[in-house]
Amino acid sequence: RKYSKVLGIETSCDDTGCAIVDSNRNVLGEYLQSQQQIHLDFGGIIPPVARDLHKQNIDNVVTQALQQAQVSLNDLDAIAVTVKPGLPLSLLVGMNYAKELSKKSLKPLIPIHHMEAHALTARLVDHNLQLPFLVLLLSGGHCLLAIVKKVNEFLLLGQSIDDAPGEALDKAARRLQLKNMKEFRNCCGGQAIEKAALKGNPRAIDLGTFMTSYQDCNFSYSGLKNAVRSQILRSEQKHELKGDEIIPEVFDLCASIQYAITKHICTRVLRAIEFINRTQLLPDTNRTLVVSGGVASNMFIRKHLNLVCEEENFKLIVPPPKLCTDNGTMIAWNGIEKLNEHIDIFSHLDLDKIDIQSK
Ligand code: KG4
Ligand code: ZN
Repeated sequence: RKYSKVLGIETSCDDTGCAIVDSNRNVLGEYLQSQQQIHLDFGGIIPPVARDLHKQNIDNVVTQALQQAQVSLNDLDAIAVTVKPGLPLSLLVGMNYAKELSKKSLKPLIPIHHMEAHALTARLVDHNLQLPFLVLLLSGGHCLLAIVKKVNEFLLLGQSIDDAPGEALDKAARRLQLKNMKEFRNCCGGQAIEKAALKGNPRAIDLGTFMTSYQDCNFSYSGLKNAVRSQILRSEQKHELKGDEIIPEVFDLCASIQYAITKHICTRVLRAIEFINRTQLLPDTNRTLVVSGGVASNMFIRKHLNLVCEEENFKLIVPPPKLCTDNGTMIAWNGIEKLNEHIDIFSHLDLDKIDIQSK
């Protein structure tokens, strides 16, 4: 395999990211502009706002990454960009910018699937990780369990039938008004709940178990969402709170939410492993679980997944937090993986064949 360098661009949601990665697993340059604080102030992502911020930031983000890497467009072997899934308005900004770069530099363009990129990041970090492996993606937009068979071939074992875990955590954090507490002001929902949970009792409030009667690997978080909402209403009534006063049981509730989500995730992973054991979908040499996505940076969830893996003789790989959340590096790395396999490489003359997809 020849030595190659790829520039990757990510704009599928609310982060504008760019990185240059080479085939020797070196991250030559990377830059990320987060919109998180602005969206926190709005109380959620508003797609046209996200689009405008991407448009404002993308040129600087790419320039910074190239400068840090000390490479010019000419030195690249290809440009990779997220084209699905994501917010259409956000995806379009990245794709159109990448197409311009491709035209300007005459370098090929490689379209990337955001979830595949999350999964494959583990191979950037761990050069011993061979395909196939089991992957669990937990983020603000997605929740799925799959077997990564090839660079572009995933076998989906299960996914969320409603919300994603990050979404459930973000909503709970908003309902609990954690943002009004100084110590959580700059945290996203998941981080705030993780920190608050450290001060609470995870067994204090029973929020129920979910989908235990379904013998599949699908996830559901809407039951939890409703249980949290009723619990907060009950507490507010009990304490006769007004306005933005914070309920006294907030730490116990955070710990209980985190516990319920963790239990649900671990149960589903165990199901997937049972299935793998029965069907021999993974050879004995490939008993590895990769966990990624923003929620994978949660230490409580990690700790319990580690226990599951120890029990089931699986190796657990979790990329460092900055690679678990959305970033340009994972897109560039996926570009390298596709270059190596000669998959999805579009000449600058064929750019019309590439388009975004929301799902
Ligand atoms: O992967 P990501 O950056 O973006 C996508 O959704 O694709 O994930 C963001 C999600 C948010 O919902 C955030 O609350 C959650 O990841 N998150 C966490 C933690 N850090 C971020 N959830 C739990 N514990 C954390 N420490
Ligand atoms: Zn993501």
